[in-house]
Amino acid sequence: MRIALFGAPGSGKGTQAEILVAKHGIPQISTGDLLRAAVADGTELGKQAKAAMDAGELVSDDLVIGMIRERLEAADTANGFILDGFPRSLPQAEGLDDLLASLERPLQCVIHLQVDNEEVVQRLLARGRGDDTEDTIRNRLSVFDDQTQPLIDYYRDQGKLEAVPGQGSVDEINARIEAHLPA
Ligand code: AP5
Repeated sequence: MRIALFGAPGSGKGTQAEILVAKHGIPQISTGDLLRAAVADGTELGKQAKAAMDAGELVSDDLVIGMIRERLEAADTANGFILDGFPRSLPQAEGLDDLLASLERPLQCVIHLQVDNEEVVQRLLARGRGDDTEDTIRNRLSVFDDQTQPLIDYYRDQGKLEAVPGQGSVDEINARIEAHLPA
């Protein structure tokens, strides 16, 4: 099963990915988690990513695509993967398609978790991660609108987009996602 969870900051991608990992036994690949680990480890990649992350901007496509290429080549992705927070720009989506074509493992489905902006602001303020301040959240939402929303048409044109209402209980949303997953 090769899927991507797509949605605004705070739409529940990470929460739902964890449940899917437990149910389906395939890894979650979160670019946000990989980048935060690189920042914590003080790697060169982490140093280059930190300022963009703190401001709620996207880290450069080249860095993120390189990181994903390395991760997708790892043995634990042989039976599939759940992408969480990647891709989030057109160059990333095109880079992913090229990479997966070379591996002969195309993406099957993109789940779009749809949540109102005011709800995600409330969720993220309550969570309080380093980049969950009101200004940074608003910037992340505006970056999502400008750079990530175009992927909706990209994946709709490929016939891979599945819209899932992302408000309600975590279990209800999981059941909605499961209904769209490839066999
Ligand atoms: P990233 O870590 O991907 O953050 P994000 O997209 O802003 O997503 P979040 O982790 O904030 O939210 P989520 O949708 O996973 O929701 P969650 O389940 O956590 O990215 C951080 C930064 O890294 C970016 O700003 C960028 O700088 C950089 N970056 C990452 N990927 C990149 C890429 N591909 N290209 C370039 N740069 C990149 O839930 C949020 C909260 O809501 C939690 O507290 C949760 O408990 C709660 N919640 C979840 N579900 C529900 C529910 N149903 N009801 C009520 N509350 C809920």
